[in-house]
Amino acid sequence: MKQTPIIAPSILSANFAKLGEEVDSVLAAGAQWVHFDVMDNHYVPNLTIGPLICEALRKHGVTAPIDVHLMVKPVDRIVPDFAKAGATNISFHPEASEHVDRTIGLIHESGCTAGLVFNPATPLSYLDYVLDKLDLILLMSVNPGFGGQSFIPSALDKLRQVRELIDRSGRNIRLEIDGGVKVDNIGEIAKAGADTFVAGSAIFGQKDYRAVVAAMLRAIG
Ligand code: DX5
Ligand code: ZN
Repeated sequence: MKQTPIIAPSILSANFAKLGEEVDSVLAAGAQWVHFDVMDNHYVPNLTIGPLICEALRKHGVTAPIDVHLMVKPVDRIVPDFAKAGATNISFHPEASEHVDRTIGLIHESGCTAGLVFNPATPLSYLDYVLDKLDLILLMSVNPGFGGQSFIPSALDKLRQVRELIDRSGRNIRLEIDGGVKVDNIGEIAKAGADTFVAGSAIFGQKDYRAVVAAMLRAIG
């Protein structure tokens, strides 16, 4: 069953010189989660933020769920650090972990919910033996590494396939989409089955965060 929609702004496109303020504003504007993109210049060709920044946001007073998207390899070493830093959900790419099942277990043991991330060309067969252990499935609609890229349309078909798998499982698994999500395509994305929507440049690129978030929620219906 599809769950209530969640907008998760990716802080990758925020002004890092005033990150606390940016996160406060976007949450006050109606977004429910903070999407936290971690890049290591190894698994993806970019370098961003780590557990220190996550912890700083918690110390700043952020109480909303922090949705950590790990684009790092290896994965396991950094999981407990993010849990200690206040992460709520931790998602990782199966290609970046030698033992996908073990990493999911480690995330749960650390006290967080666990998500598995699929690049545009990653097959869904990774779900075959772990679907029942996941809290979230994240489909990338761009190749990971950068904000501001265009939505890859084949993600819509993949969303429909995963929606069916989740519904058949009868479990409450969130279906999240990440990359190129805008006000003008979010309706179609929701129809394809997503219930959790990451948006970076579409939100932080505008002056009025509240207007964008409201327009997105309206388009989802
Ligand atoms: C890409 C990141 C995304 C990205 C989304 O690797 O995982 O979260 O910031 O940015 P937009 O919404 O601008 O495509
Ligand atoms: Zn992301």
